[in-house]
Amino acid sequence: MSPTSPSGAAALPADPSAGAPGEQPRVVLVTGASSGIGRATAHAYAGRRAHLVLLARRRDVLERVAQECIARGAASCTVEPADVTERAAVEAAVDRTLEEHGRLDVCVHAAAVITFGTFLEVPADVFDRVVEVNVLGTANVARAVLPSMRERDDGVLVVVGSVLGRISVPQLVTYCTGKWAVRGLTRMISQAMADRPGVRVVGVAPGATNTPVYAVAGNYSGTAARPPVPVDQPEKVAAAVLRAADRRRRGEESVGLANALMTLGHELLPPVFDRLVGPLMSRLALAGGPLPPTSGNVVEPAEHDAVRGPWSGGGLLGLDRRRRHPSADGD
Ligand SMILES: NC(=O)c1ccc[n+]([C@@H]2O[C@H](COP(=O)([O-])OP(=O)(O)OC[C@H]3O[C@@H](n4cnc5c(N)ncnc54)[C@H](OP(=O)(O)O)[C@@H]3O)[C@@H](O)[C@H]2O)c1
Repeated sequence: MSPTSPSGAAALPADPSAGAPGEQPRVVLVTGASSGIGRATAHAYAGRRAHLVLLARRRDVLERVAQECIARGAASCTVEPADVTERAAVEAAVDRTLEEHGRLDVCVHAAAVITFGTFLEVPADVFDRVVEVNVLGTANVARAVLPSMRERDDGVLVVVGSVLGRISVPQLVTYCTGKWAVRGLTRMISQAMADRPGVRVVGVAPGATNTPVYAVAGNYSGTAARPPVPVDQPEKVAAAVLRAADRRRRGEESVGLANALMTLGHELLPPVFDRLVGPLMSRLALAGGPLPPTSGNVVEPAEHDAVRGPWSGGGLLGLDRRRRHPSADGD
């Protein structure tokens, strides 16, 4: 749908890791491509001269991202507006990709939503919807992309999970529930690909990343959210996604300075972890000023159009530049 031709675009220099001259550009589908990590990943593959297919709910933003990708050197860029919870729409997008390009080499699944609030604060229908988008959305995408990869015994599915698929945070119960499930699902789908050595299903688990998601998340905590320090930029996570897609081994790649420490504390010292995690989360991520309850972009997309959020990663305890709304830096 809406293919964009590279002709006339001001191309930037290609990524040095782009294929050798004469090598066929890869066909790459990115879900969650309208924002944050998915958008940064689309940009990174554009620098490798890939044929890109961009999927998220908002066509207008995807079309802007497609122009950015063409300007960065993408061989072609097609937008596929779809909701990942709608299985038929996801399958139709993949079918059109296969018709157009004959194959799909890489799928990066980054579409997801977040809601802040403890278990009894979050309305049941919002809880259900977050789990539906994050878990069933992952299943829908995997089910759509893997059959053709298995047929060719070639292809990679990268599922963007989270360090919150390994630890428990009471104010992120909805999101954590989904991400624990996504980690298990990713691993079991990977196990089931053992009979196709050319097909890999890998996870990338970021820690806090400076994307617009914190400003557009569902939030029932009473206070505005920001990423807790240490904060990485989405381009760093995108680079890890490309590495994970390139490498031969399976498994999960962690991105984030504090991930190992948090996971270790969660596993080795559960009583201490459980006592500290709630207050620390309130201090580091939920001290942004009063906010009325909102379902954010969980049910319907919100108005936002950027790779990055407005937060910086530095500053002791994240006290610097605590702003509530993302900037509109398209790239
Ligand atoms: N930011 C962090 O701190 C962080 C940390 C760890 C893991 N992650 C993970 O990284 C991934 C990307 O997150 P992000 O921070 O980049 O978030 P983001 O900026 O909010 O991007 C999320 C993307 O998902 C799309 N999306 C949301 N619901 C969808 C649906 N139902 N169907 C199709 N697309 C949908 C959004 O676009 P539309 O609204 O246009 O549909 C957007 O493109 C997610 O898996 C997230 O869990 C993020």
